[in-house]
Amino acid sequence: MRKTIAELIEDRFGLPTTAGAALPAEGTVAQLLAHRTHRRYKPDPVPADVLEIVLAAALSAPSKSDLQQVGVVLVKDRAKQATIGGWIPDMPWIATAPLFMVFCGDNRRIRRIAGELRHRPFPNDTLDMFMNAAVDAGLVLQGFITAAEAMGLGCCPISVVRNHVEKLAELLELPAGVFPVAGLTVGYPSQAGWISMRLPPALTVHTDRYDDGGLAAQLDAYDRRREARHATPPASQRFVDRYGLTEPYGWSEDKARQYSVPERHNFGPFIRRHGFGLA
Ligand SMILES: Cc1cc2nc3c(=O)[nH]c(=O)nc-3n(C[C@H](O)[C@H](O)[C@H](O)COP(=O)(O)O)c2cc1C
Repeated sequence: MRKTIAELIEDRFGLPTTAGAALPAEGTVAQLLAHRTHRRYKPDPVPADVLEIVLAAALSAPSKSDLQQVGVVLVKDRAKQATIGGWIPDMPWIATAPLFMVFCGDNRRIRRIAGELRHRPFPNDTLDMFMNAAVDAGLVLQGFITAAEAMGLGCCPISVVRNHVEKLAELLELPAGVFPVAGLTVGYPSQAGWISMRLPPALTVHTDRYDDGGLAAQLDAYDRRREARHATPPASQRFVDRYGLTEPYGWSEDKARQYSVPERHNFGPFIRRHGFGLA
């Protein structure tokens, strides 16, 4: 028997629900609920017309003030793709994916339009301008992933390119005002992949006022649900040399360990050097 929307919601959160029990798992909502990141691909290339369709759908995302502050770099030069993959050897799908691209925030265009082409002042070198461009790029990235999945493709966003942002900007000739939000590997999946369980809406959805009073208890239950579905093998525990093996391990311990070391402190200084005052 085909699944229902309710079953897809249960797959996503590991919690029972009656919402969508009468709805077949079809259409856009079902596709969003079934989303999964794919890191292994068949060697088949992404056909040019499929890429054009997916890009057009992605670029249909809403945009702050209709400013359309996105720039997408298709890395078609395999040598450049290999160079980027070489910086990040623990993610081999970057070098081998049939398609690699980089989604950028682009604040340069509006600055050029204002100053160079329309001769207007631009007294807006603000953090908000940076965030608008980052959000626009993120929305286009999500639209690309959704459209790609609808066309049978699989994707993996790659924020780790920001660890190498100076080299990346040089390699792709990203001028001041244009900054990478994430790379994206794309291809036809060679494996089914799996659903990554999300935090319960009890933690992420608030009514009328923000309230995280239930964090500790909800988190413990989430860690247990998630580990019951996909147990983290001891070999996958993070920074064992520093923290040893923890039992039980879980998402919260993993994330606490992940951010117990400095990560990507190069990015803020890069952005400030790269055309943003962030006032
Ligand atoms: C902005 C962004 C950056 C990401 N960067 C990476 C990355 O560098 N490497 C990677 O393997 N996955 C990356 N991911 C994928 C996440 O790990 C993945 O979305 C998350 O584990 C949830 O899994 P799911 O997408 O299958 O639901 C990124 C996702 C996003 C949205």
